[in-house]
Amino acid sequence: MVNVLIFGPPGSGKGTQSVRLAEKFNLTHLSTGDMLRAEIAAGTDLGRKMSSIMSKGELVPDEVVIEMIAKKIDSTKGNAGFLFDGFPRTVEQTVALEEMLKRRKMKINSMLVLEVDHDELVKRLLFRAEQSGRPDDKDPEVIENRIDVYKQKTEPIINYCRQRGIYQPVDGMGSIEDIFGRLAGYMKKIK
Ligand code: AP5
Ligand code: MG
Repeated sequence: MVNVLIFGPPGSGKGTQSVRLAEKFNLTHLSTGDMLRAEIAAGTDLGRKMSSIMSKGELVPDEVVIEMIAKKIDSTKGNAGFLFDGFPRTVEQTVALEEMLKRRKMKINSMLVLEVDHDELVKRLLFRAEQSGRPDDKDPEVIENRIDVYKQKTEPIINYCRQRGIYQPVDGMGSIEDIFGRLAGYMKKIK
């Protein structure tokens, strides 16, 4: 089993690249953002509670996403591992994921961090806003807040993973195909 974090700020291409990597390497793609949007679309109580937090670009409580991920890990069988997209987002979530995996005799094998310039992130998200209908893409202030929240709460995970020897920065600028080629190259080296 190989478990990989695909990491990076909002708009860095985590979702775009995860879909392709999951297919190529037979991994299960787990995106907490997608799971939360599915709750909202289904009109569940949880979705209703989380939607205002998400539309401001703030993080939902750790325990909500930790429980979602634990359920998905337990209900998935027969894959070569997991590709975590948008999770973990705090050091607390990272510790919880490590414990979850350890109990199941697994670990985080690598953290691939997409590095993208600030202006390119904003450009990509505003462009996506035209089709996605995501409320958190429409307002430039919310985009800036998501980037700030990433820097304050999520980036510290990089140091945590660097100490564990699993941190791998990846140039996230350029075409989707070129970036995919770089990521796939790193995936092949993971043990
Ligand atoms: P989430 O859904 O994870 O959103 P995000 O981190 O803000 O990231 P995005 O999905 O916007 O960007 P991405 O990196 O996936 O880029 P993409 O491939 O789409 O989270 C949303 C919210 O949910 C959070 O704000 C929070 O409230 C909550 N949440 C989720 N997980 C949580 C957690 N673990 N804890 C707490 N709260 C949580 O690409 C972006 C656009 O760019 C697309 O249009 C794409 O087509 C385009 N694009 C991609 N690559 C390229 C390229 N190379 N060139 C040009 N365009 C490109
Ligand atoms: Mg995404």
